[in-house]
Amino acid sequence: MKPISQIASHVHASTTLAIDSMYKKMKADGLDVIGFGAGEPDFNTPANIIEAAERAMREGKTKYTPASGLLELKAAVCDRMYEDIGVSYNTNQVLIASGAKHNLFIAFSVLLDPGDEVILPAPFWVSYAEMIAMCGGVPVIVKAGEDQNFKITPEQLEAAITPKTKCLCLNTPSNPTGMIYSKEELLALAEVCVKHDLYIISDEIYYSLVYDGKKAVSVSTLDDEIRQHTILINGVSKTYAMTGWRVGYTMAEESLIKVMGNFVSHSTGAPATFAQWGAVEALRGPQDQVEVMRQAFERRRNLIVDRVNAVPDISCLKPEGAFYIMINLQKLIGKELYGVKINDSDDFANVLLNHGHVAVVPCTGFAAPEFVRLSYATSEQIINEGIDRIANFLKNA
Ligand SMILES: Cc1ncc(COP(=O)(O)O)c(C=O)c1O
Repeated sequence: MKPISQIASHVHASTTLAIDSMYKKMKADGLDVIGFGAGEPDFNTPANIIEAAERAMREGKTKYTPASGLLELKAAVCDRMYEDIGVSYNTNQVLIASGAKHNLFIAFSVLLDPGDEVILPAPFWVSYAEMIAMCGGVPVIVKAGEDQNFKITPEQLEAAITPKTKCLCLNTPSNPTGMIYSKEELLALAEVCVKHDLYIISDEIYYSLVYDGKKAVSVSTLDDEIRQHTILINGVSKTYAMTGWRVGYTMAEESLIKVMGNFVSHSTGAPATFAQWGAVEALRGPQDQVEVMRQAFERRRNLIVDRVNAVPDISCLKPEGAFYIMINLQKLIGKELYGVKINDSDDFANVLLNHGHVAVVPCTGFAAPEFVRLSYATSEQIINEGIDRIANFLKNA
């Protein structure tokens, strides 16, 4: 047999899924394990949204929509984004595709020629690096440590730019760090991008999950020139607890959206028609559940941060958004736990799962090998039990 393509043979399995499948297997085997791996809200989709999708199916809205998405949904996206973050686009500047993830993949496909570089601030969501490589691009990783709140500076950005740089990949609020770039910080980065004529792919999927009375700022609201360089990616997955519906969107210049639409029309087509009608209800219907979920996440964040920082030898910063914390393992690296030398967070996550029965996500795949990520999209009871277990696991090692 001839080999599969070079590009395909270099795609890695997701590290977040690897621990998750070990955790699920242990659970299926009847073991009492606690999982902090989930990258999705634990709430069910609000009932009005489910009812709207059911209604759509009964009304025969089960045929194809235009490949670039339902016009009614594009209009709902424009109105909701204007109301929530003040971004102003028309329906010709919107593409609907299967989740933010698919939109990101199409955006990279449309922008990148082989060898084009994408600046990727680290720690980053693991799929970015893979997607960039799958589209023939080269991720150029710029590291931002805990000492700089996991945020890169304009000087770091400037230093990473080469003649091959095509774009900056921004994610605020961030998975895995939970950090948010302020308006001033965004402006400083965006000005560097405009100066070098770089695109900004701005993944704002966690925009509604922001705490301490703050609001997320979209880079596309800063000024017209910046906006022309921006490809804004968002979706309904995290805000409306709709991860399984697979509806996300891109907002960008019309010429770019047209090309992205061509890609979709010859590959997947639009997301399921009734899922798109459910998303219309999510965006146009009552928004009270969004705030209820946001407040629950804020309480859980406060709890988990306080609990983790009370455990000797580990610590975490207080994130400002999303639903993840990054536990710093620096004091444990090089030590032995349960007969295993801990060289990085992969080792730690494995030993913790096997001896402490707690699943966490190692951040080796996020370019932060001395950290593990915990999702607090889970109940306060599970958070308490899980952190008790981690504390005992470390105490008894
Ligand atoms: C930063 C980031 N972007 C995009 C996604 C994917 O979102 P969607 O479910 O809309 O594809 C995720 C999911 O975990 C994410 O963390």
